[in-house]
Amino acid sequence: MKNMGRLITFEGGDGCGKSTQLKLTADWLRGQGKDVLETRQPGATPLGVEIRSLLLSGEFVPVPECELLLFLADRAQHVQTVIQPALAKGQWVLCDRYSDSTLAYQLAARGLAEGVDLKPMLAFAEAGCVPEQTFWLDVSAEIALKRVRARTDMGAESTRLDEEALSFHERVHAAFIVICQQYPERMLRIDAGVDIGKIQKNIQNQLEALLLA
Ligand SMILES: Nc1ncnc2c1ncn2[C@@H]1O[C@H](COP(=O)(O)OP(=O)(O)OP(=O)(O)O)[C@@H](O)[C@H]1O
Ligand SMILES: [Mg+2]
Repeated sequence: MKNMGRLITFEGGDGCGKSTQLKLTADWLRGQGKDVLETRQPGATPLGVEIRSLLLSGEFVPVPECELLLFLADRAQHVQTVIQPALAKGQWVLCDRYSDSTLAYQLAARGLAEGVDLKPMLAFAEAGCVPEQTFWLDVSAEIALKRVRARTDMGAESTRLDEEALSFHERVHAAFIVICQQYPERMLRIDAGVDIGKIQKNIQNQLEALLLA
Protein backbone atom coordinates (compact mmCIF):
# COMPACT_ATOMS: atom_id res chain seq x y z
CA MET A 1 0.00 0.00 0.00
CA LYS A 2 3.05 2.31 0.28
CA ASN A 3 2.62 3.85 -3.16
CA MET A 4 -1.10 4.42 -2.83
CA GLY A 5 -2.38 7.97 -2.83
CA ARG A 6 -4.48 9.56 -0.14
CA LEU A 7 -8.05 10.74 -0.31
CA ILE A 8 -8.83 13.84 1.75
CA THR A 9 -12.24 15.50 1.72
CA PHE A 10 -13.41 18.99 2.66
CA GLU A 11 -16.90 19.21 4.07
CA GLY A 12 -19.33 21.69 5.53
CA GLY A 13 -22.27 23.87 4.61
CA ASP A 14 -22.44 26.34 1.76
CA GLY A 15 -19.95 29.19 2.12
CA CYS A 16 -17.94 27.62 4.98
CA GLY A 17 -14.74 27.96 2.93
CA LYS A 18 -14.24 24.49 1.43
CA SER A 19 -13.06 25.64 -2.01
CA THR A 20 -10.81 28.33 -0.53
CA GLN A 21 -9.12 25.93 1.88
CA LEU A 22 -8.89 23.07 -0.61
CA LYS A 23 -6.97 25.29 -3.05
CA LEU A 24 -4.59 26.58 -0.37
CA THR A 25 -4.02 23.04 0.93
CA ALA A 26 -3.32 21.75 -2.58
CA ASP A 27 -0.74 24.53 -3.15
CA TRP A 28 0.88 23.81 0.20
CA LEU A 29 1.07 20.06 -0.45
CA ARG A 30 2.60 20.70 -3.88
CA GLY A 31 5.20 22.82 -2.11
CA GLN A 32 5.96 19.68 -0.06
CA GLY A 33 6.60 17.80 -3.30
CA LYS A 34 3.27 15.97 -3.41
CA ASP A 35 1.40 15.16 -6.61
CA VAL A 36 -2.07 16.61 -5.93
CA LEU A 37 -5.39 16.30 -7.71
CA GLU A 38 -8.05 18.91 -6.85
CA THR A 39 -11.55 17.72 -7.52
CA ARG A 40 -15.14 18.26 -6.41
CA GLN A 41 -18.61 16.81 -6.21
CA PRO A 42 -20.89 17.00 -7.98
CA GLY A 43 -19.61 17.67 -11.48
CA ALA A 44 -16.01 16.52 -11.88
CA THR A 45 -16.57 14.19 -14.86
CA PRO A 46 -18.21 14.93 -18.24
CA LEU A 47 -21.28 12.96 -17.14
CA GLY A 48 -21.11 14.61 -13.73
CA VAL A 49 -21.23 18.08 -15.33
CA GLU A 50 -24.63 17.13 -16.76
CA ILE A 51 -25.79 15.72 -13.43
CA ARG A 52 -24.57 18.86 -11.63
CA SER A 53 -26.54 21.03 -13.98
CA LEU A 54 -29.68 18.91 -13.51
CA LEU A 55 -29.27 19.20 -9.76
CA LEU A 56 -28.28 22.80 -9.28
CA SER A 57 -29.46 24.95 -12.19
CA GLY A 58 -32.87 25.52 -10.63
CA GLU A 59 -34.61 24.44 -13.84
CA PHE A 60 -35.76 21.26 -12.11
CA VAL A 61 -36.79 20.63 -8.52
CA PRO A 62 -36.04 16.95 -7.89
CA VAL A 63 -37.95 15.11 -5.17
CA PRO A 64 -35.57 14.18 -2.33
CA GLU A 65 -35.23 10.56 -3.50
CA CYS A 66 -34.34 11.69 -7.01
CA GLU A 67 -31.86 14.26 -5.66
CA LEU A 68 -30.16 11.61 -3.53
CA LEU A 69 -29.82 9.15 -6.41
CA LEU A 70 -28.41 11.83 -8.73
CA PHE A 71 -25.76 12.78 -6.17
CA LEU A 72 -24.87 9.09 -5.75
CA ALA A 73 -24.77 8.58 -9.52
CA ASP A 74 -22.33 11.49 -9.81
CA ARG A 75 -20.18 10.02 -7.02
CA ALA A 76 -20.03 6.53 -8.52
CA GLN A 77 -18.86 7.95 -11.85
CA HIS A 78 -16.35 10.26 -10.18
CA VAL A 79 -14.89 7.57 -7.90
CA GLN A 80 -14.36 5.00 -10.62
CA THR A 81 -13.19 7.23 -13.45
CA VAL A 82 -11.22 9.90 -11.55
CA ILE A 83 -10.50 9.20 -7.88
CA GLN A 84 -9.50 5.52 -8.03
CA PRO A 85 -7.13 6.01 -10.99
CA ALA A 86 -5.53 9.01 -9.26
CA LEU A 87 -5.05 7.07 -6.02
CA ALA A 88 -3.60 4.17 -7.98
CA LYS A 89 -1.01 6.60 -9.42
CA GLY A 90 -0.12 7.69 -5.89
CA GLN A 91 -1.72 11.13 -6.08
CA TRP A 92 -3.09 13.07 -3.14
CA VAL A 93 -6.75 13.58 -4.02
CA LEU A 94 -8.42 16.59 -2.39
CA CYS A 95 -12.17 16.45 -2.91
CA ASP A 96 -14.60 19.32 -2.31
CA ARG A 97 -17.65 17.57 -0.76
CA TYR A 98 -18.19 13.78 -0.60
CA SER A 99 -20.50 11.36 1.21
CA ASP A 100 -20.81 13.46 4.38
CA SER A 101 -22.46 16.21 2.34
CA THR A 102 -24.93 13.66 1.00
CA LEU A 103 -25.71 12.55 4.53
CA ALA A 104 -26.05 16.09 5.84
CA TYR A 105 -28.16 17.51 3.01
CA GLN A 106 -30.23 14.63 1.80
CA LEU A 107 -30.78 12.73 5.00
CA ALA A 108 -30.93 15.31 7.76
CA ALA A 109 -31.93 18.48 5.99
CA ARG A 110 -34.59 17.04 3.72
CA GLY A 111 -35.98 14.54 6.19
CA LEU A 112 -35.17 11.34 4.29
CA ALA A 113 -33.90 9.74 7.50
CA GLU A 114 -37.07 7.96 8.46
CA GLY A 115 -37.06 4.38 7.25
CA VAL A 116 -34.06 4.79 4.94
CA ASP A 117 -30.68 3.34 5.77
CA LEU A 118 -28.51 5.55 3.64
CA LYS A 119 -25.13 4.21 4.68
CA PRO A 120 -25.12 1.08 2.48
CA MET A 121 -26.13 3.27 -0.47
CA LEU A 122 -23.29 5.68 0.25
CA ALA A 123 -20.85 2.78 0.49
CA PHE A 124 -22.16 1.36 -2.80
CA ALA A 125 -21.44 4.67 -4.59
CA GLU A 126 -18.04 5.04 -2.90
CA ALA A 127 -16.95 1.60 -4.15
CA GLY A 128 -14.38 1.28 -1.38
CA CYS A 129 -12.99 4.81 -1.67
CA VAL A 130 -13.34 5.98 1.93
CA PRO A 131 -11.52 9.24 2.77
CA GLU A 132 -8.50 8.88 4.97
CA GLN A 133 -9.13 12.30 6.48
CA THR A 134 -12.07 14.68 6.32
CA PHE A 135 -11.89 18.33 7.31
CA TRP A 136 -15.25 19.65 8.46
CA LEU A 137 -15.09 23.43 8.23
CA ASP A 138 -17.38 24.43 11.03
CA VAL A 139 -18.94 27.88 10.89
CA SER A 140 -22.44 29.05 11.75
CA ALA A 141 -25.00 29.05 8.96
CA GLU A 142 -25.46 32.77 9.47
CA ILE A 143 -21.80 33.68 8.86
CA ALA A 144 -21.54 31.22 5.96
CA LEU A 145 -24.60 32.71 4.27
CA LYS A 146 -23.13 36.20 4.62
CA ARG A 147 -20.02 34.95 2.83
CA VAL A 148 -22.12 33.38 0.06
CA ARG A 149 -24.09 36.62 -0.40
CA ALA A 150 -20.89 38.67 -0.54
CA ARG A 151 -19.50 36.24 -3.12
CA THR A 152 -22.70 36.51 -5.21
CA ASP A 153 -22.51 40.33 -4.98
CA MET A 154 -19.00 40.05 -6.44
CA GLY A 155 -20.48 38.33 -9.49
CA ALA A 156 -20.26 34.61 -8.65
CA GLU A 157 -23.17 32.45 -9.73
CA SER A 158 -25.52 31.21 -7.04
CA THR A 159 -27.04 27.71 -7.09
CA ARG A 160 -30.42 26.33 -6.14
CA LEU A 161 -29.04 25.19 -2.77
CA ASP A 162 -27.55 28.62 -2.00
CA GLU A 163 -31.04 30.07 -2.21
CA GLU A 164 -32.46 27.85 0.52
CA ALA A 165 -33.68 29.55 3.72
CA LEU A 166 -31.40 30.07 6.73
CA SER A 167 -33.31 27.34 8.62
CA PHE A 168 -32.30 24.80 5.93
CA HIS A 169 -28.63 25.72 6.34
CA GLU A 170 -29.00 25.50 10.12
CA ARG A 171 -30.32 21.95 9.78
CA VAL A 172 -27.35 21.08 7.56
CA HIS A 173 -25.01 22.51 10.20
CA ALA A 174 -26.70 20.48 12.94
CA ALA A 175 -26.38 17.36 10.78
CA PHE A 176 -22.61 17.89 10.38
CA ILE A 177 -22.25 18.05 14.18
CA VAL A 178 -23.86 14.60 14.46
CA ILE A 179 -21.86 13.13 11.54
CA CYS A 180 -18.60 14.41 13.06
CA GLN A 181 -19.44 12.62 16.31
CA GLN A 182 -20.17 9.41 14.38
CA TYR A 183 -16.77 9.37 12.65
CA PRO A 184 -14.32 10.71 15.23
CA GLU A 185 -11.33 8.94 13.64
CA ARG A 186 -11.81 10.21 10.13
CA MET A 187 -13.46 13.57 10.60
CA LEU A 188 -11.71 16.58 12.06
CA ARG A 189 -13.63 19.68 13.08
CA ILE A 190 -11.86 22.83 12.03
CA ASP A 191 -13.01 26.20 13.38
CA ALA A 192 -13.86 28.02 10.14
CA GLY A 193 -15.21 31.20 11.73
CA VAL A 194 -11.73 32.74 11.83
CA ASP A 195 -9.59 34.26 9.09
CA ILE A 196 -8.52 32.29 6.03
CA GLY A 197 -4.81 32.12 6.97
CA LYS A 198 -5.51 30.84 10.46
CA ILE A 199 -7.81 28.08 9.18
CA GLN A 200 -5.20 27.04 6.64
CA LYS A 201 -2.46 26.91 9.28
CA ASN A 202 -4.66 24.65 11.38
CA ILE A 203 -5.24 22.31 8.42
CA GLN A 204 -1.52 22.22 7.65
CA ASN A 205 -0.71 21.40 11.28
CA GLN A 206 -3.23 18.57 11.27
CA LEU A 207 -1.89 17.16 8.02
CA GLU A 208 1.66 17.35 9.30
CA ALA A 209 0.69 15.48 12.44
CA LEU A 210 -1.51 12.89 10.79
CA LEU A 211 -0.31 12.18 7.31
CA LEU A 212 3.11 13.64 6.67
CA ALA A 213 4.73 12.45 9.90
N1 LIG B 1 -12.39 32.41 6.71
C1 LIG B 1 -13.02 33.24 5.87
N2 LIG B 1 -13.34 34.48 6.27
C2 LIG B 1 -13.99 35.34 5.43
N3 LIG B 1 -14.36 35.04 4.18
C3 LIG B 1 -14.06 33.81 3.72
C4 LIG B 1 -13.39 32.85 4.55
N4 LIG B 1 -13.23 31.69 3.83
C5 LIG B 1 -13.80 31.92 2.63
N5 LIG B 1 -14.28 33.19 2.55
C6 LIG B 1 -14.99 33.80 1.43
O1 LIG B 1 -16.33 33.35 1.54
C7 LIG B 1 -16.83 32.94 0.27
C8 LIG B 1 -17.17 31.46 0.34
O2 LIG B 1 -15.96 30.69 0.41
P1 LIG B 1 -15.80 29.37 -0.46
O3 LIG B 1 -16.25 29.62 -1.84
O4 LIG B 1 -14.40 28.88 -0.24
O5 LIG B 1 -16.83 28.45 0.34
P2 LIG B 1 -17.41 27.03 -0.08
O6 LIG B 1 -17.54 26.28 1.19
O7 LIG B 1 -16.60 26.44 -1.17
O8 LIG B 1 -18.86 27.43 -0.61
P3 LIG B 1 -19.86 26.54 -1.54
O9 LIG B 1 -20.40 25.46 -0.66
O10 LIG B 1 -20.94 27.50 -1.93
O11 LIG B 1 -19.05 26.03 -2.71
C9 LIG B 1 -15.74 33.27 -0.75
O12 LIG B 1 -16.04 34.51 -1.34
C10 LIG B 1 -14.48 33.32 0.09
O13 LIG B 1 -13.52 34.20 -0.46
MG1 LIG C 1 -17.12 25.79 -3.08
